[in-house]
Amino acid sequence: MANKVKSDKDYSQYFQPPSLTDAKKRGKEDIAVHYDFQIPEGMKEFGADKYYLIRTFGCQMNEHDTEVMKGLFEQMGYQATEDKFQADVILLNTCAIRENAEDKVFGELGHLKALKAEKPNLVLGVCGCMSQEEAVVNRIMQKHAFVDLIFGTHNIHRLPELLKDAYFNKEMVVEVWSKEGDIVENLPKKREGIRAWVNIMYGCDKFCTYCIVPYTRGKERSRRPQDVLAEVRDLARQGFQEITLLGQNVNAYGKDFEDISYSFGDLMDDIRKIDVPRIRFTTSHPRDFDDHLIEVLAKSGNLVEHIHLPVQSGSTEILKKMSRKYTREHYLELVAKIKRAIPHVCLTTDIIVGFPGETDEQFEETLSLVREVKFELAFTFIYSPREGTPATDMEDNVPMEVKKQRLYRLNELINELSKQGNEKLQGEIVEVLVEGESKNNAEVLSGRTRTNKLILFTGSKDLIGKLVYVKVTHAQTWVLKGDIVDAPVKNISIPS
Ligand code: SAH
Ligand code: SF4
Ligand code: F3S
Repeated sequence: MANKVKSDKDYSQYFQPPSLTDAKKRGKEDIAVHYDFQIPEGMKEFGADKYYLIRTFGCQMNEHDTEVMKGLFEQMGYQATEDKFQADVILLNTCAIRENAEDKVFGELGHLKALKAEKPNLVLGVCGCMSQEEAVVNRIMQKHAFVDLIFGTHNIHRLPELLKDAYFNKEMVVEVWSKEGDIVENLPKKREGIRAWVNIMYGCDKFCTYCIVPYTRGKERSRRPQDVLAEVRDLARQGFQEITLLGQNVNAYGKDFEDISYSFGDLMDDIRKIDVPRIRFTTSHPRDFDDHLIEVLAKSGNLVEHIHLPVQSGSTEILKKMSRKYTREHYLELVAKIKRAIPHVCLTTDIIVGFPGETDEQFEETLSLVREVKFELAFTFIYSPREGTPATDMEDNVPMEVKKQRLYRLNELINELSKQGNEKLQGEIVEVLVEGESKNNAEVLSGRTRTNKLILFTGSKDLIGKLVYVKVTHAQTWVLKGDIVDAPVKNISIPS
């Protein structure tokens, strides 16, 4: 076995492989919050004259974890590079959500093997959700023994120590905590651009039967409100124009507090008073979306009228097998309530086709729900079995050809609805946050509407980072085009 971990030494200090069984247990013990994070003495200059590169796969949670790791690297004196030949450390921040996400990472590891042979001093690490999987860690140890370091999603703050171990040990350093750690505040973050992410909670306790996330991200734990609010205020002071609050299931925010009663609705109500032009959140689970939250979102102001509300399926029976804990009818009632309270709301969703046992009729129910809600965008996926999740034990009797055909039909419908949604804006004047120059034409600026639609228009570069008004002249499936209207750059007024 090409395993670097030899048996004649005690690796227990830095060799902790993950266990899916342990990851499943939800302990009652309290989560402690630590405010005393510091780069360890002796590591502050460690990266002088060295370069790091992080390749990120997966969701915004991972993108944001990468910002934390960049912050840690830079506090150790490292500089960023995009050139793998220049890098002294390369980390792959991985995603485990579907098999193709994992295939990409193994493909990348294959490419990096040659680089590692050329540059033996290169430190190569694998972190993120795949590291939390037992089978993945075993596979890396056996087939990709040139990897120097594996660490998980709960011990990112240990990066400096782990890096040091990786430099000074010839063996592979593996530290993956199967049980979630505490919440560590005051970690450095390297943010770029005008939009920022803020974690409000970690983990997921929903255990949808197809999903690996509750195993890779641990149990639900919310950051204290004062810590979230302080971070948002600080970002506002720094001039960020848009903040996205992050959690796998943001509506469960606060349910784990034992000493206070404070929900996601309360948090949004406090955040809307902070002077930031736009606040978004992702992802919300239909089950915990309560009336108080709808009431707060309806106050508008900096709370934008876009809600990403994953439905997964339009069939109550499939939803039950998925353990989503709501029915088709509940979902439709919730949507009706949201639409009544926020008339211009834009709803987007996630859908899985070809879940084990999904019949043609059940898939038709998904299409009819999509038509009824009129989602303006959807992330659509073919079901992918994930080791250790309950759905892998269900009979997967839908042929791949049928799954592909369903995906195709669903996407055609979503494209049509997206076009219709955009056409409704034809001739309207919309508020746009200007993000930058268009990819294809430097004369053209690109921005986003409050509902997160991409819009292109001609304008001066000084407008980047500002809010402007644009009259929509062309509505296509994926993009709007328009002309800036001669209105003053908007100073938003924040409701009290
Ligand atoms: N916490 C979010 C989703 C995070 S994962 C929520 O519950 O809404 C993003 C999406 O990936 C999910 O909404 C689901 O549509 C899809 N997904 C998750 N596991 C999957 C699997 N095993 N196969 C296919 N798609 C999956
Ligand atoms: Fe996965 Fe369900 Fe949790 Fe979303 S709510 S992360 S789909 S288990
Ligand atoms: Fe992937 Fe982990 Fe996000 S599995 S989708 S990176 S939480």
